[in-house]
Amino acid sequence: MDITVKEISKVYTQGNNKIWALHKVSAEFPESVFAAVKGPSGCGKTTFVRIVGGIDEPYDGQVLYDGTDVFRLNEAKRNEIRLEKIGFVFQEPRLFPTLTAIENIYTPLLIKKQKIDKSHINELCEKLGITHLADRLPKDMSGGERQRVAVARALSVDPEVLITDEPTAHLDHENSEKLMEILLVLHQRLKQTLIVVTHDERIYKKADMIIDLDK
Ligand SMILES: Nc1ncnc2c1ncn2[C@@H]1O[C@H](COP(=O)(O)OP(=O)(O)OP(=O)(O)O)[C@@H](O)[C@H]1O
Ligand SMILES: [Mg+2]
Repeated sequence: MDITVKEISKVYTQGNNKIWALHKVSAEFPESVFAAVKGPSGCGKTTFVRIVGGIDEPYDGQVLYDGTDVFRLNEAKRNEIRLEKIGFVFQEPRLFPTLTAIENIYTPLLIKKQKIDKSHINELCEKLGITHLADRLPKDMSGGERQRVAVARALSVDPEVLITDEPTAHLDHENSEKLMEILLVLHQRLKQTLIVVTHDERIYKKADMIIDLDK
């Protein structure tokens, strides 16, 4: 799926103040591209990827999935497309607290009523190094483990696009390198579009394209 972002703007209102989080940002994500989104804290990275992922509406501008204007669709249709095509890992990974790791990973498949491909899930868990956590609750995992489970959950349904918002923010150097390495291996294997928000220069160097929101 190709994603085209046309001059999107986003304004937040705080009392009488208007905060322009994005001002006329355009970008083009061809199918299977690996894109890094960078810029200083508060420049609008999270806002940008949430709009690209169809979660939040822009104030102005368009987001096209293979030419279809996502925010012209009604909410039900938009949710359906998002569930079908986009995997999202949030800056603060939100797992379902009462479900085990493996139950968390299966949830999108159940919502989508998609057949469970156990070998795909097992491979994901193995690559992400979380096989041994299958029966654990999120509260009994480290931040990095939770993040890896969140990645597995996002990838369980084989999305065409994976968006991760600073997936390595809470990890130490070694573990963040490991997680990025895994994301790249999975990207090369699954050929999804990968959009990563990151502050990590080593990641920009490996990306096919960089979106610098500071500019
Ligand atoms: N719900 C909101 N209400 C008001 N202002 C907001 C809201 N969400 C974000 N902002 C503001 O919009 C701007 C962009 O925020 P955003 O979270 O997109 O930045 P970011 O680049 O992801 O930052 P960080 O690197 O710290 O995660 C910031 O100035 C932020 O304070
Ligand atoms: Mg952010």
